Amino acid sequence: MAPPRGLGQLLGILGLMLLALVPHLVAADCECGFIAHSPLTQKQAQEHPGPDQLLFTSMLESRFYDVQNISRDGTWKRQQYNVSARAGRGEYGKTFATKNVYSVPQTGAVKDPSQLGAGYSDSTNGGIALVVSSALTNDSVPTAELDSARSDMTFGTYRAGIKLTPVNGTCAAFFWYFNDTQEIDMEFLSREFDVAKQVFPVNLVIQSEASMQAGYDASKTGTFKVVNLAFDPTLDFHEYRFDFLQDRVRFYADSRLLAEMNGTSVPTSPGHLILQHWSNGNPLWSGGPPEEDATMTVGYVKAYFNSSDAKVQSSWDSGCQKALSKGSNDTVCEIPNVTAANSSTGGTFFNTSDPNDTEKNNAVRLGSTWATTASALLLMLVLTCL
Ligand SMILES: *[C@@H]1O[C@H](CO)[C@@H](O)[C@H](O)[C@H]1NC(C)=O
Ligand SMILES: *[C@@H]1O[C@H](CO)[C@@H](O)[C@H](O)[C@H]1NC(C)=O
Ligand SMILES: *[C@@H]1O[C@H](CO)[C@@H](O)[C@H](O)[C@H]1NC(C)=O
Ligand SMILES: *[C@@H]1O[C@H](CO)[C@@H](O)[C@H](O)[C@H]1NC(C)=O
Ligand SMILES: *[C@@H]1O[C@H](CO)[C@@H](O)[C@H](O)[C@H]1NC(C)=O
Ligand SMILES: *[C@@H]1O[C@H](CO)[C@@H](O)[C@H](O)[C@H]1NC(C)=O
Ligand SMILES: *[C@@H]1O[C@H](CO)[C@@H](O)[C@H](O)[C@H]1NC(C)=O
Ligand SMILES: *[C@@H]1O[C@H](CO)[C@@H](O)[C@H](O)[C@H]1NC(C)=O
Ligand SMILES: *[C@@H]1O[C@H](CO)[C@@H](O)[C@H](O)[C@H]1NC(C)=O
Ligand SMILES: *[C@@H]1O[C@H](CO)[C@@H](O)[C@H](O)[C@H]1NC(C)=O
Ligand SMILES: *[C@@H]1O[C@H](CO)[C@@H](O)[C@H](O)[C@H]1NC(C)=O
Ligand SMILES: *[C@@H]1O[C@H](CO)[C@@H](O)[C@H](O)[C@H]1NC(C)=O
Repeated sequence: MAPPRGLGQLLGILGLMLLALVPHLVAADCECGFIAHSPLTQKQAQEHPGPDQLLFTSMLESRFYDVQNISRDGTWKRQQYNVSARAGRGEYGKTFATKNVYSVPQTGAVKDPSQLGAGYSDSTNGGIALVVSSALTNDSVPTAELDSARSDMTFGTYRAGIKLTPVNGTCAAFFWYFNDTQEIDMEFLSREFDVAKQVFPVNLVIQSEASMQAGYDASKTGTFKVVNLAFDPTLDFHEYRFDFLQDRVRFYADSRLLAEMNGTSVPTSPGHLILQHWSNGNPLWSGGPPEEDATMTVGYVKAYFNSSDAKVQSSWDSGCQKALSKGSNDTVCEIPNVTAANSSTGGTFFNTSDPNDTEKNNAVRLGSTWATTASALLLMLVLTCL
């Protein structure tokens, strides 16, 4: 008589456990999207009026410090192409090669750090290294680029944890791109970094029709600003962020507003994200080429955005409706602000998979199922012993 009762109890407990698990899984799914805030001071909010809360329906989160081998990644694609000196308006050409983009897993995983470029230090938390080499081939500088595979990104908040190179003569860029006249850029020129004077500028640019007419010199337009960072960007990871909205773009570092740009230069098409590290010897921009190998390390990317893809939109809509009709809580996830304290890891990730990414969705669900099975087995063992 005793065993069946035990089994009944066990099944009851198991059922409760499963029930307890459901809201947790649902809560983590953010079915109705993500809320971003504009972390402005009161004074800034007066100068830049606009909505404080923004809703985005899709996301792309990559913890590069957890990635073992970027060459097998489907979310990001390493680039391979050449740009001649003339086409790049530089003294040298650029050779973008996949081998200049590689994974540096978290501490301990690097067997021979001397193989990595200068600027790499053992204290790094890992990430994707983008290397500009000092060893020119055919009058061309070996350079690095990593692009998001999806290109359906419209309005959104785009964020990357990056540690820059102290080696003089490169341009490191985190940008959103549709074409040469619809582009939002955060560019760092290492030749401008001056430790003695504590000067660490970031160049904020929107490339537009106006900048094309000015020969792609955005400094002749209203959408070019050089802002000094409040920290040395080569010592640690910091979060660089731009919010691309319908009528304006806001740039941030560690959740502090650097600049806002508005007007007709703001892009209107869907685009993709690019991480790039290059040099072509142009003394007016990248400078260089660098005298030693220079490494830019990207720890993570987080992007919360609206998709231009009708299928993605309708899948968001039905997923959200379904969650709401089930009475789920927390269908909207609030994106926390990253500060200097957590910019090396990026803090919170939602672990929600892209609704379009069924493979990943299944993996998340399967993982949870296994966890449930394992705890049930453990419980069974404990009960049996009792
Ligand atoms: C982010 O910062 C802004 C402004 O400081 C604040 O209003 C907002 O609540 C913060 N968001 C979170 C999730 O902490
Ligand atoms: C993103 O799309 C959702 C759903 O269509 C919409 O409610 C929201 O306002 C959009 N966000 C922005 C910033 O345009
Ligand atoms: C990464 O994967 C590619 C393709 O599978 C392989 O050729 C390469 O050796 C791997 N690199 C490392 C560092 O494991
Ligand atoms: C790019 O340039 C490199 C170095 O000169 C060369 O080895 C390679 O074949 C070129 N690739 C393409 C696609 O032209
Ligand atoms: C060297 O560069 C020139 C001009 O960019 C190109 O035409 C030529 O194919 C390159 N040679 C090699 C070996 O890559
Ligand atoms: C970029 O795309 C827009 C919209 O399609 C177009 O009007 C513009 O001419 C394009 N710019 C370039 C440089 O091709
Ligand atoms: C970087 O190198 C250029 C060219 O040699 C030089 O003009 C510039 O002052 C250097 N920058 C720093 C911060 O030393
Ligand atoms: C852009 O912002 C400035 C101040 O931030 C404001 O004076 C101007 O009216 C805005 N322009 C547009 C087109 O919204
Ligand atoms: C939803 O939130 C309310 C109020 O916080 C709480 O009472 C309720 O138990 C929650 N429901 C679920 C399914 O988590
Ligand atoms: C980063 O740390 C701050 C301060 O501890 C915290 O408020 C914030 O939520 C954290 N951000 C993330 C993304 O976890
Ligand atoms: C989120 O996913 C990562 C792997 O991408 C995993 O290491 C981590 O434990 C997951 N976190 C949660 C809370 O599920
Ligand atoms: C969604 O998945 C379909 C089928 O795999 C693919 O064709 C489409 O490009 C994907 N859309 C996005 C935005 O990733």
